Amino acid sequence: MEEIEVMVADASHEKYIDTILATMATSAKDRGTGIAKRSHEYVATKMKEGKAVIALYDNEFVGFSYIETWGNKTYVTTSGLIVNPKYRGRGVAKRIKNVTFTLARVRWPHAKIFSLTSGSAVMKMNTQLGYLPVVFADLTDDESFWRGCRGCINHDILARTKRQFCICTGMMYNPEDHPDEILPIQLPKETLERIKNLNN
Ligand SMILES: CC(C)(COP(=O)(O)OP(=O)(O)OC[C@H]1O[C@@H](n2cnc3c(N)ncnc32)[C@H](O)[C@@H]1OP(=O)(O)O)[C@@H](O)C(=O)NCCC(=O)NCCS
Repeated sequence: MEEIEVMVADASHEKYIDTILATMATSAKDRGTGIAKRSHEYVATKMKEGKAVIALYDNEFVGFSYIETWGNKTYVTTSGLIVNPKYRGRGVAKRIKNVTFTLARVRWPHAKIFSLTSGSAVMKMNTQLGYLPVVFADLTDDESFWRGCRGCINHDILARTKRQFCICTGMMYNPEDHPDEILPIQLPKETLERIKNLNN
């Protein structure tokens, strides 16, 4: 049997975007939680910029997540983690998270990595990677990041509390607290080559 492959996505993976977005929307509805909405174009750009990670099994969509920088690259997020329900509970999310986290650390070594989530699986993985819970004031003040929350069903809470509190928990990995860090995985040589040629 072939292995589930987890890799940094490129333009050749654009054909999976509609499935990715549909899986995200269905899962958010099932969980009854909010989620930042992403457009087809947004995800396509992430793939082209080497900021997306995809898991595939024999050309079938298995999982996805992406990274983004904020506040002039002083902060990075890993977001939009989704695993096809058929493949859950087998460690795929963890494998994807290890790649997005490592990619973020390698590309922007001085940036703080943060996460805004209501999912216990993500909180658990963040904790294992060394993230700590933080108040919202410690997260980026980049307006474009917070704009992403506008499509969420809980946005009224965030607006009412003037961005101090909401349903999601903020967590952060500050590289300064990990001077002897060992990254969870090693990125393949081809991926490192590709990253080197990207200037954003
Ligand atoms: C959350 C999700 C990504 C997990 O994917 P997965 O491939 O089944 O997760 P993994 O098997 O890699 O598990 C990773 C860790 O999370 C834990 N976990 C997985 N699902 C969990 C759940 N529903 N509740 C609590 N913990 C969970 C696992 O025990 C594992 O921890 P461990 O290694 O210490 O045992 C998947 O269920 C999903 O796509 N859900 C819908 C979208 C979503 O909630 N995304 C997160 C947005 S914040």
